[in-house]
Amino acid sequence: MAERTLIIIKPDGIQRHLMGEIISRFEQKGFKLAAAKFMQIPEVAARKHYAVHEGKPFFEGVVKYLASSPSLVMVWEAEGVIEMARKMMGATFGFTAEPGTIRGDFSCSKGYNLIHGSDSPQSAAYEIPLYFAEDEIADYDFADSAWLYGKND
Ligand code: RTP
Ligand code: MG
Repeated sequence: MAERTLIIIKPDGIQRHLMGEIISRFEQKGFKLAAAKFMQIPEVAARKHYAVHEGKPFFEGVVKYLASSPSLVMVWEAEGVIEMARKMMGATFGFTAEPGTIRGDFSCSKGYNLIHGSDSPQSAAYEIPLYFAEDEIADYDFADSAWLYGKND
């Protein structure tokens, strides 16, 4: 099994009609969707999700934001997916994220930054089970995987 990451299209991504756009970028890059749930994240789950930020001044705000309206929670898979997805997301704040990234192209807000992505294998291992049981995560192959992931060396 290749590396997995937890990606969330946050409430502003849904409200701003950007679900398809964001999914397309990951799909076209060659990542494999392994699980998805459209849900309003309960506040208790949002607290667990951002537990690493507990005590920081923005903690209560991000918890409320994540729990404020439905989100699309997904697991995407590929070798190196965590780092690639973080690059595709761009810097944390929309107003500093580079053009070409998801946040850079679609957000000029500070807090409303459209998307979450696990920032390390340890974070992914913590975050994925908050939303998915192992039997809810699909394990399958792409028919063109040799072309998608080939090293050509
Ligand atoms: P995420 O966890 O959502 O993927 O975002 P990230 O790694 O780029 O940023 P992180 O440092 O983990 O922060 C989590 C979320 O908290 C909000 N934030 N506000 N006011 C502030 O200084 C501040 N810093 C972070 C953002 O919504 C960020 O996505
Ligand atoms: Mg983070």
